[in-house]
Amino acid sequence: SRIVVLLSGSGSNLQALIDACAEEDYGVDIVAVGADRDGIGGLDRAHKANIPTFVHRVRDFADREAWDQAMAEAVSAYRPDLVVSAGFLKLLGKRFLEAFPGRYVNTHNSLLPAFPGMNGPAEALAAGVKVAGATLFICDAGVDTGPIIAQTTVPVLDGDTVDDLTERIKVAERRQLVQAVGDMLRHGWDVEGKRVTIRSGS
Ligand code: GRF
Repeated sequence: SRIVVLLSGSGSNLQALIDACAEEDYGVDIVAVGADRDGIGGLDRAHKANIPTFVHRVRDFADREAWDQAMAEAVSAYRPDLVVSAGFLKLLGKRFLEAFPGRYVNTHNSLLPAFPGMNGPAEALAAGVKVAGATLFICDAGVDTGPIIAQTTVPVLDGDTVDDLTERIKVAERRQLVQAVGDMLRHGWDVEGKRVTIRSGS
C-alpha cells in the first residue's frame, strides 16, 4: 500500500513510519512527504530515506483555496491509499478533504475530544488529569474533531513537566501510528458516522 505523509516539524512520527516500512511484512511504502514549510527536520528525514518531497507554502498562493487545491493535486499525483498528517500544522480545506474521503488521518497528542489544538500535553497537565495519551483520527473540517480510529493512554505522573508528558505521549503516539496505519492498510476500515472500525484480519 502507498501512503503520503504531511508534516511541519521534526518528523519523529515520520521516522517511526520509515523504520516500520523498512520491514517487508509491514507492507507499506511512503511514496512522498509533503510540507507547508522549508527547513524542518521532517524533510531531512525524508531526504535521508530517499523519499520524494514537496513543499507548498500558503503564502506562495493567491489564497487558502488555491493552496488547498495545490496540496490536493500534489498528493493525488502519488496515488496514495492513505494520507497521514503527522505534526502537520495546517488545516486542509474542502477540496483536499473531498479528494481523500475517509482516507486522510491525523495523529494528535491528547485523548480527544479533550484538549484539541496546539497545546494538548500542557492543557492536560494544567487540567490535572491522571491519564493522557494520543489519538489517531480521520480529518474533517474541524480542528481535531473527526472520527476516532485509535487511542492510547499514558499516565500523568507526579512532578511531570510539560516536556516529560509530551515525550511520554510521543512514544505511545508513534507506536500507535505504526500499528494502526499498518492494520488499516492490511485489512481496510469502515466509517459510520463518528465510529471507525478497522476490519479484523484472518
Ligand atoms: C506530535 O506529537 C503531534 O501529535 C503534535 O506534534 C507532534 C509532531 O511531532 N501535533 P513530530 O514532528 O512527528 O516529531
